[in-house]
Amino acid sequence: MSNTQNTTSPDEKNIDALALIYPLIVKIPYTKMMYGTDNKSASHEGSPNTYALVQCSRDINSSNCRSCLEDLSEAANRCCNSKIGWRILAPSCSLRYEEYEFYQEPSTPVPAPSAPRPEPVPGESNTKTWFIKISERWSIHLP
Ligand SMILES: *[C@@H]1O[C@H](CO)[C@@H](O)[C@H](O)[C@H]1NC(C)=O
Ligand SMILES: *[C@@H]1O[C@H](CO)[C@@H](O)[C@H](O)[C@H]1NC(C)=O
Ligand SMILES: *[C@@H]1O[C@H](CO)[C@@H](O)[C@H](O)[C@H]1NC(C)=O
Repeated sequence: MSNTQNTTSPDEKNIDALALIYPLIVKIPYTKMMYGTDNKSASHEGSPNTYALVQCSRDINSSNCRSCLEDLSEAANRCCNSKIGWRILAPSCSLRYEEYEFYQEPSTPVPAPSAPRPEPVPGESNTKTWFIKISERWSIHLP
């Protein structure tokens, strides 16, 4: 899902997002909670404050967590580079980026879901279950 609003340079890589998210992807998988948030204040005139959250379900190990997050980051580059905010949810990890503080500080992890995951419906693309609509501000991107 991405915010419908474009960045000021929609045709360029979102350097602000990448600079914030990459260090989280290389660090958070190796922490106990596999959950973390970070922010950066505007680095130069016209650049936004940036906020990100990464999380893995704790039933996967650190290396799987990292590659899950790397995959989502790649997906974000494809779908959402031009957008000022987005979130991507996979069964085992999730990634969210915004230009406003959307999480509570101090960061408290969401408890891991205890219910078993639903089995995918045969014949239906699994990727469909990656996306949920949360509010009218958000649009859905199916790969
Ligand atoms: C956002 O930017 C993309 C890429 O330049 C463009 O195709 C699209 O029309 C823009 N959307 C809006 C809502 O401005
Ligand atoms: C980033 O987070 C720190 C620690 O929670 C907070 O003190 C700071 O005000 C935040 N910066 C921005 C730009 O929101
Ligand atoms: C993580 O789990 C995968 C199986 O899902 C396994 O192949 C891999 O060796 C594990 N990595 C580590 C570092 O334990």
